Amino acid sequence: LKLAVCVSGGGSNLQAIIDAIDSKAITNAEISVVISNNANAYALERAKKHEIESVCISPKSYDSREEFNRVFIDKIDSYDVDLVVLAGFLVVVPEEMIKKYTNRIINIHPSLIPSFCGKGYYGLKVHEGVLSRGVKITGATVHFVDEGTDTGPIILQKAVEVLEDDTPEVLQRRVMEQAEWKIMPQAINLIANNKVSVIDKKVYIK
Ligand code: GRF
Repeated sequence: LKLAVCVSGGGSNLQAIIDAIDSKAITNAEISVVISNNANAYALERAKKHEIESVCISPKSYDSREEFNRVFIDKIDSYDVDLVVLAGFLVVVPEEMIKKYTNRIINIHPSLIPSFCGKGYYGLKVHEGVLSRGVKITGATVHFVDEGTDTGPIILQKAVEVLEDDTPEVLQRRVMEQAEWKIMPQAINLIANNKVSVIDKKVYIK
């Protein structure tokens, strides 16, 4: 399975994927390219260290979103990948791409969807919402990307407990360590080994 991994920040989920491929926790998959919208993303350093090709394409470099979308889609197409992995990617995926890559784009979201997701819930804002609501359990979700925001078929979820003295940063870290970095590689391995099917927007794992 050929992967394109799209990043915007630290790339800890990218690192989890790289490590899982190296340790054979993921089999039958390789990262063909890492694409970032942010030239300063540490994720690009991680790619370079592992001699993985990386590309930086930012909407800011184009006069219109339509122009960026064109370049972005053509770039992804040029690598002829089987799966696009959004790992901390903060750019809205173009509608045309979602149609073209139905059930071939996955995203990691740092909550138990459908809680604390959708417009405005990204990065620390997710964990701030969790703490202000006072829920006792949160977690992370890997899902296929559809036209909505965080609304696609759910592949894997993993629960993480919320502690009384948690700050958003401490909680984010726990969710990453205990959930994101486990279920993202797991989901990729399942897909790479043909264990995942989608019927009526529900995911079935063999
Ligand atoms: C993580 O909190 C992840 O859940 C979200 O983006 C954040 C940064 O991830 N999608 P990474 O360290 O860049 O992989």
